Amino acid sequence: MKFCSGSRRLNDEGGILVRDKKMTKLSFITSNPDKYREMKAFFEENELELDWTRVSLPELQADTLEEVVIHSLSQFNGDSVFVEDAGVFIDALGGFPGVYSRYVYDTVGNEGILKLMEGVENRSARFEAVIGFKPLDGGDIKLFKGVVKGFVSLSPKGGKGFGYDPIFTPEGFKKTFGEDERVKSMVSHRKRAAEKLLQYLKRNL
Ligand code: IMP
Repeated sequence: MKFCSGSRRLNDEGGILVRDKKMTKLSFITSNPDKYREMKAFFEENELELDWTRVSLPELQADTLEEVVIHSLSQFNGDSVFVEDAGVFIDALGGFPGVYSRYVYDTVGNEGILKLMEGVENRSARFEAVIGFKPLDGGDIKLFKGVVKGFVSLSPKGGKGFGYDPIFTPEGFKKTFGEDERVKSMVSHRKRAAEKLLQYLKRNL
């Protein structure tokens, strides 16, 4: 698949973003190698290449993932790039840790979350990911959200993935994301947000 901004169309030849006859790949700005690995695998499944801009952009402490993403992206000069911010939202905790997921993970981690959930029957939760994409023409930042519903497990399971993966079981499955990366690659919040980005690119480039 190839994106051609000159003629505003796609064809099925490569996996490279083409602009003004110059080959420009999309680049994912993230300091997290696991996120890049997952995103790259999704792009490859769609016969697209993805560059990695490995920088840590200052993260705004805001009320929504969308605000975080817009702030992060506005710190970066250049186009053909996207950022993504994610979090786990637990129903019984009123959506906590949500936008505070990184801070909570870095401080109390999965054990702290499981402690908060001790004796709690309603284990339902969701992962959300928001991608912010800076269009080639310098237009407004475009946002794409992906959500996967599931449950907080009773104990951490599996050594795969990262972050909250060992304590999150997606709806319709028995294993946590930490136990089954294949399931994560099929239904994850990140994949669902990336699918929307791809649809946008197909429609608009
Ligand atoms: P951020 O999007 O990098 O700010 O991530 C916020 C927190 O959520 C970090 O502690 C991440 O490890 C965690 N996190 C983000 N995405 C995922 C995921 O796909 N699985 C598990 N944890 C995640």
